[in-house]
Amino acid sequence: MPSRFPNDFLWGAATSAYQIEGSPLADGAGPSNWHRFTHTPGHVTDGSTGDVACDHYRRWGGDVTLMAELGLQAYRFSIAWARVLPEGRGQVNAKGLDFYSRLVDALLTRGIRPNVTLYHWDLPAALADRGGWLNPDVADWFADYARVVYAALGDRVPMWATLNEPWVVMDAGHLNGGHAPGHRDWFEAPRVAHNLLRAHAEAVRAYRAEAHGRLGQIGIVVNLEPKYAASDREADQAATRRADAYMNRQFLDPLFLGGYPEELREIYGEAWPEPPDAELHALREPLDFVGINYYTRSVTCDDPRARPVRAGRVRQPRHAHTEMDWEVYPQALTDVLTWVTRRYGRVPLYVTENGAAFYDPPSADGGAVDDPLRVAYYRDHLRAARRAIEAGVDLRGYFAWSLLDNFEWGYGYSKRFGIVHVDFTTQQRTPKASARFYAEVIRSNGANL
Ligand code: FCB
Repeated sequence: MPSRFPNDFLWGAATSAYQIEGSPLADGAGPSNWHRFTHTPGHVTDGSTGDVACDHYRRWGGDVTLMAELGLQAYRFSIAWARVLPEGRGQVNAKGLDFYSRLVDALLTRGIRPNVTLYHWDLPAALADRGGWLNPDVADWFADYARVVYAALGDRVPMWATLNEPWVVMDAGHLNGGHAPGHRDWFEAPRVAHNLLRAHAEAVRAYRAEAHGRLGQIGIVVNLEPKYAASDREADQAATRRADAYMNRQFLDPLFLGGYPEELREIYGEAWPEPPDAELHALREPLDFVGINYYTRSVTCDDPRARPVRAGRVRQPRHAHTEMDWEVYPQALTDVLTWVTRRYGRVPLYVTENGAAFYDPPSADGGAVDDPLRVAYYRDHLRAARRAIEAGVDLRGYFAWSLLDNFEWGYGYSKRFGIVHVDFTTQQRTPKASARFYAEVIRSNGANL
């Protein structure tokens, strides 16, 4: 097997609406759950909000020029549901849709392929008031919203993802409470997971029912974190299986294999809702691709206190860690891509997010940002992605997270993931050394790796 990326490999970068846009209520948009969450003190470590973020809602033209200068072939972004439907359903806000329509046109003019995610965690507040992801009707609300977006952009957008990281919506939003809506309720979490999957499947069916639904591809984006047992002890092995079921198989098993992993019953006990067979059946809507967000792995041990999964993480002090305290472990990217292919079949895959937060100064000194740790992270993970291709994985593209330093959810602006530095006082953009490196990866189709 030649050690190179396929000629048509797609190179891109990713962002999401609430993290970069700012102006959350402009032009008739409704508030989102994240708007409320950040405007409630105590949720974001640096007390910040997405009110301005990267001001991309007003600076999008310059940002597209920047993407073109870096040679990006694709751009993954998300749509803010509450810009399109301020109440979450019903009345369409044409101005909100127009924003995305102009963005799509600008990308296409520059030869950059738009890759649209319909939901990257910002739920219209009006729907949160109706129970949000807990309300079974959310599947219809989401499909209705998706139809509005397909009708407006479907003729020009070749690549769609329904949800970004449903696991995080369920775990951080409803089990651990670190994300909107900030709930900590074991009984909610599995019902939210199921409704997310139902909504996803409805939106896929809605897409395929459209005429242009045959022209583009539709899939889902999941975050996967390979679990490696800390020891041969049966307790650690069992904890690793539970952690793996909870994080890696909970969403993909129902979509590809028709049922939830057994371990979830053990994890949730009386909180497990046991979804009806007919509903499980309806989740198995064929997908054109799976997007995988990969950042780190976990060395897992039994930990009875870490409920409900009862699995802990054993820190690896001899390995490098990012500013998120995530272990840098590129081989797990190869492992996770080959695992998905083995378990679910040779489905087309994209790495839809991969990248690292490392310290960069708030202002770009002398117009440059040297970020050798991030360059090394990208180089080593891209090599790991190439090894997966050599091992037979149908990997079709890679998206760096993120194009811009941005609002990192509960961490606010304290974690910089961008390949382009953003000075949040002046909104000045400065491509970091990692952006230059990545531009050369794209130009040479990975020959410099
Ligand atoms: C992922 C999210 C993305 C960003 C990165 C660091 O879980 O999809 O929005 O926060 O992590």
